[in-house]
Amino acid sequence: MTLAALNSPVGLNESQLSIVGRQRLEGELHVNGAKNSALVLMAASVLSCDSIRLRNMPDLTDIGTMAKILTSLGVGFHLEGSSAVLRSDGLTRHDPSYDLTRKLRASFFLIGPLLARHGVAKVPLPGGCRIGSRPVREHNKGLQAMGVRISIEGGVVSAEVQGNHGRLQGCSIDLDCPSVGATETLMMAATLAEGETVLRNAAQEPEVVDLAGLLKAMGARIHGAGSSTIRISGVRKLHGADYAVIPDRIEAATFLIAAAATRSRLHVTPMEPNHLNAVLAKLEEVGCSVNPQGQGITVTTPGQLRGCDLRTQPFPGFPTDLQAPFMALLTTVQGTSFVTETIFENRLQHVAELQRMGAQIRTCGNVAILEGVPMLSGVAVTGTDLRAAAAMVIAGLAADGVTHVAGLEHLDRGYARLEERLQAVGARISRIGATRPALLAA
Ligand code: EPZ
Repeated sequence: MTLAALNSPVGLNESQLSIVGRQRLEGELHVNGAKNSALVLMAASVLSCDSIRLRNMPDLTDIGTMAKILTSLGVGFHLEGSSAVLRSDGLTRHDPSYDLTRKLRASFFLIGPLLARHGVAKVPLPGGCRIGSRPVREHNKGLQAMGVRISIEGGVVSAEVQGNHGRLQGCSIDLDCPSVGATETLMMAATLAEGETVLRNAAQEPEVVDLAGLLKAMGARIHGAGSSTIRISGVRKLHGADYAVIPDRIEAATFLIAAAATRSRLHVTPMEPNHLNAVLAKLEEVGCSVNPQGQGITVTTPGQLRGCDLRTQPFPGFPTDLQAPFMALLTTVQGTSFVTETIFENRLQHVAELQRMGAQIRTCGNVAILEGVPMLSGVAVTGTDLRAAAAMVIAGLAADGVTHVAGLEHLDRGYARLEERLQAVGARISRIGATRPALLAA
């Protein structure tokens, strides 16, 4: 596999999924490595000159984009099966281009490792996206507290460590909100800083813990990842590591929700149930049976499903990334459900698409109020962002008739070859139009 294969094909966003709904799903679905972990672990590889081998990498367009950004800076990147090997001894640049970074918000998190390695970084502001404005104020504020001078001009953040021979200075940082990206950016920066950094009101998401796992394997000294206070004692140098990405909790839950929406039985593995307690509790509340088995979970729907209320929250609360998929399930359960989105200000765009399929939903600010209907009807719909696209697939699997789902450029960012995997458990789903080439060898 060469880097040429990382280019998205022309016409990719013209393709659609065609789904013949109401097929019962049965069998086992394998969960891939977590996208949001893998992306930040790739960024962390810049902290060492030695090789970092990342196993269990998901085959996603976002991973290809991050690889292109890193190689443009001089990082060596190659694939060995489902592992990626990154080597940053040739890191020569600190200024990824806007053309590449605009495609991937997580690329902004590189500012932390670049500053830690070279004391200087120039990274374009990621800007907003369809789900909200997505500021990076907390990332920048934390870096300033570590001795970085930051100026923003023409949409580019120019950052330079002041004094201290270009080395970041450990300090105490209280985040205004538990931003996942800010926690990860500052944790990476602090690994090579002088002295101790204490991050308070830190994000507690499993991806933060996974990043700490890799950094510790590289020789970093980190305590408390997974709690709201993380302590990092800076070291002079980090070394190479061989590390496996955690299973993708969002992908795992998407499959569990698909099983519930189609009133099916699916075993989803491997996964870490503790990463999904809030979601598993909601599945049980609507009437699903959720059974841990081996390294996975089997979900079945023994009786009629009923509505529930949910509110998105930072981990360990109900994840915003599963709000749209869960809403697709709630469209066809008995009774009323209230869904409140508290994390992103524009993450209810899938409501209009679900309404086109016959869902009864009213919105009031950031709250969607659903009255369950017996059945959705297949129509042409568009996934307006990654998780909205997953919601459309779930709705299509459950709906009467044929659903065409557009917006696959979003879906392919977070779910690898979704249609093939769903076909294997009985779904009648196929891709019409260009197929995305594999990034990782099988
Ligand atoms: C991460 O984004 C994920 N992305 C998102 O996944 C996920 O939705 C989000 O965390 C929340 O769980 C990656 O890990 C690559 P945040 P991130 O900074 O880090 C506010 C998906 O579908 N905030 O934790 O960018 C912000 O406005 C995606 O896979 C500030 O106010 O999210 C939001 O309300 C999309 N100021 C909240 O914090 C800041 O400086 C959470 O944002 C930063 C954030």
